[in-house]
Amino acid sequence: MKDERLLEELKTRLDIVDVISDYVELKRAGQNYKGLCPFHSEKTPSFMVSPDKQIFHCFGCGVGGNVIHFVIKYENLSFPESLRFLAKKAGIDLKEYRVQSGDDGLREKLLEIHAVAAQVFAENLKKSKTASSYLKKRGLTEETIHSFSLGYALKEWHHLSNYLKEKGFPRAALSQSGIVSSGEKGIYDTFRDRIMFPIVDLQGGIIAFGGRVMDESQPKYLNSPDTPLFKKGETLYGLAHAKDGVRKKGYAVIVEGYFDVIVCHHYGFTNAIAPLGTALTPGHLQRLKRFTKKAVLVFDGDEAGKAAAKRSVPILLEQGFTSKILLLPTDDDPDSFLRKNGEKRFADLVSGAVSPIDFVMAVSKGDRTEMVHEALRIISSAGDVIMKEELVRELSEKTGLRETILREEMEGRGKRPKGKAAITSSPTPSPRGFCYDDELLLLSAVIAFPEKLDHILQTVAMEEFSNPTVRRILEKLGTGGHGESFESILSSLGDEEKALVTKLTFHPGFDHEVVERNIEDCVRSMAERRSAEQRKQLHERIRQAEKKGDQDLLYALLKERQRLIKEAR
Ligand code: UTP
Ligand code: MN
Repeated sequence: MKDERLLEELKTRLDIVDVISDYVELKRAGQNYKGLCPFHSEKTPSFMVSPDKQIFHCFGCGVGGNVIHFVIKYENLSFPESLRFLAKKAGIDLKEYRVQSGDDGLREKLLEIHAVAAQVFAENLKKSKTASSYLKKRGLTEETIHSFSLGYALKEWHHLSNYLKEKGFPRAALSQSGIVSSGEKGIYDTFRDRIMFPIVDLQGGIIAFGGRVMDESQPKYLNSPDTPLFKKGETLYGLAHAKDGVRKKGYAVIVEGYFDVIVCHHYGFTNAIAPLGTALTPGHLQRLKRFTKKAVLVFDGDEAGKAAAKRSVPILLEQGFTSKILLLPTDDDPDSFLRKNGEKRFADLVSGAVSPIDFVMAVSKGDRTEMVHEALRIISSAGDVIMKEELVRELSEKTGLRETILREEMEGRGKRPKGKAAITSSPTPSPRGFCYDDELLLLSAVIAFPEKLDHILQTVAMEEFSNPTVRRILEKLGTGGHGESFESILSSLGDEEKALVTKLTFHPGFDHEVVERNIEDCVRSMAERRSAEQRKQLHERIRQAEKKGDQDLLYALLKERQRLIKEAR
């Protein structure tokens, strides 16, 4: 596989400490480095990086892996994408390596087409007085236009499509890009006479466009259709620009439109993002989750805005987001509000955004009972039991109704047997407490001293490992032979296995000096456990045979027991 060579090259050129330092502030801690985990929020560092082993592990949330896994997780990339990403960082020319992506390079082609199209649109904008003055009229500076790579699609049917054809892009790829449409008379430009908004993915690639007319014609905005690069219902406009802002501020501001995002950023609200003309979906939030689980939703203050907010709140709760809602004054959106009133007033509004409970209480049109029921309906969508508890408490405080009453009412509505919801949705406990049993210690020894594996497997059979994760790792290590490097074995493991391997690498749980003795101790106690288990089973069968009065069986079993006792001595 060609990827192997690239992997080798990456390993020699990149140091995990350097790469992760771009994202996390690392401090030396003995042989390792320590920092605040970027994958969960914490105040004391439990995220470790080992320069010797070139791995990371977080003792808070349990993730771990090598530099590629880090990039996959942090940048939300596929494996081949992360190789490309790292290659770019390391200054490796990828033309020498054919990175497998499984789609014969279609993705790559489409990305290229979008990049070229964006350049064309940007050029057009520079040359078009009308388009430039439209953007100016809407308050955008050169800097903002540049930073969001805005452009303009000419009022022509074949300007872009001809250019792309001349550039040699295959017709099939052009049609699949959505930038070019096919009709009876052949292909033509999808976007004409529109201000163009490139939609950028987290790696900085352009995956789609939105285009706005400059007059009152319809549709006001046209978006790229779904393509292999782009799923409209899951894409958040501005996320690539906002990810650092979101991380820094600890929450996202979710607005409704293209201009809202851009103008928010212009005024320093660099954590602003928007869905693309659709309601908020779980898909949007799953993408956002990597950066934050907190959001302020901003809606127009009109009826449509309220309705949209009502639809969005349950989805946020279901996805475990802590959210606040901000309804702007009627007739305003963030864009117009900011331009009229400036950032200070907008910041005040954002910090005054209300909880979902307050929101329901404010907008519910029914009487008090209906309002409470509406609030309970929203609360019951919360995916996290703790969050649910807190919301019930808040509702109780604000209405003066007892929590138990509210809870009963809510569970009654759900039509499930009482208590069931709490069990199925309870979060898994964090793996903080960690106890080293024999199996973990043996695995740990093998990770530190791979040459011990043979000896261990000669003494203990694979089936005797009861921990399935441990067994899977040992199997991989066993079949990987001893020629394969630690890293390549690590790469072939699933998330859970990887996390265990990295954890044990940092905290082996035994003393290196006495590893031999530790191994023997573990092997012996596993053997003892095994024979104790066998004796117990035998005892049970003897009891059954006595009960049934099956003398032959009883005799055989007693003989077996004798043999076991002898063996144990
Ligand atoms: P709005 O109609 O509220 O427009 O649509 P806007 O964002 O305030 O735009 P401006 O300020 O008039 O330029 C909100 C969002 O809904 C999507 C777009 O993403 C838009 O930004 N939309 C709207 C469409 O996809 N198609 C449309 O025809 C209209
Ligand atoms: Mn607007």
